[in-house]
Amino acid sequence: MKYTYMKYLLIFALTLSCYQSSYSKSFKCLADTATAGKTILDEDGKPVNAHGGGVLYYKGVYYFFGEIKKGNTWLVPDQHWEDYRVPAGGISCYSSTDLVHWKNRGVALKPTTNNPGYDIDTSRVIERPKVIYNKETKKFVMWMHIDKNDYKYSRGGVAVSDKPWGPYQYIGSVKPNNQMLRDMNLFKDDDGKAYLIYSSEDNNTMQICLLSNDYLKPTKHYSRILINKKRESPAIFKYSGKYYLITSGCSGWSPNAAAYAVADHIMGPWEEHGNPCKGPNADSSFYSQGGFVLPVANKPGSFIFMGDIWNKLDLEQSRYLWLPIRFVKGEIEIYN
Ligand code: DGJ
Repeated sequence: MKYTYMKYLLIFALTLSCYQSSYSKSFKCLADTATAGKTILDEDGKPVNAHGGGVLYYKGVYYFFGEIKKGNTWLVPDQHWEDYRVPAGGISCYSSTDLVHWKNRGVALKPTTNNPGYDIDTSRVIERPKVIYNKETKKFVMWMHIDKNDYKYSRGGVAVSDKPWGPYQYIGSVKPNNQMLRDMNLFKDDDGKAYLIYSSEDNNTMQICLLSNDYLKPTKHYSRILINKKRESPAIFKYSGKYYLITSGCSGWSPNAAAYAVADHIMGPWEEHGNPCKGPNADSSFYSQGGFVLPVANKPGSFIFMGDIWNKLDLEQSRYLWLPIRFVKGEIEIYN
């Protein structure tokens, strides 16, 4: 497992260099890193610890935020599913200008300890952080899924910072329009409006909710999509006027087949398509669960599917899968 993600990064780099020569300069060193037999380490030589995460691009720098998974994994008792957990370690931040070299910017959102009644205590669940920048307020806004061990609290937490890397001040959590929020993503559209996309209604249906102009609160405007399709882990992006949403199925930490949907308007209607993953192991999304799609800066039409390769028995040892998205005759495809 130790070098698994290295293999994927190599394939990613090679695929990019084969299919998109414009990538070659910035990704050459990624290929070199992988072929040199090194694992993906930050600039201090430590494994990058940022799971279920997302990337903010701001002023020439990519900021990668993710869940810090550290410590022993345990199985929460009396659940009807494989509820494996580690202490909530807060949210990490790494920065890079080339998606190859990652500088650890420290803990962007620190959890509290011995405060089990508080949303961001280590005893809680803090998952799938995403950050966007609000030009009007000049604040960086982080949203995340906040929960308790049984995942029934199901709320969206929000935090703000003046700097991309933090520290983020936790504001509180909310159920948008009194609806459940679990796996989530954030999307800032070209017009500056921002949306929360989340598994709701006990993971049966997804919802998309417009945020207030300061991005700190849900508004009353929301739509229900992929109704009763039981999808989670939404990864949304926009290309050539269309919105794309890649989701996973619901099988705890175990991988399953992805699917995607396309829309002309973010609130829908969304047209459902099949699995964008193609080839061997496509039905397990190559043993991963997607969670974010990264638009490569200054390369219109270049997007990276970012997934997690969960190690449910030892969550700290979970790895990453990043692959390019290809547009083929109106469909999207992902190859490993
Ligand atoms: C699947 C979700 O996508 C993850 O973020 C996490 O909540 C696990 N379920 C918990 O089993």
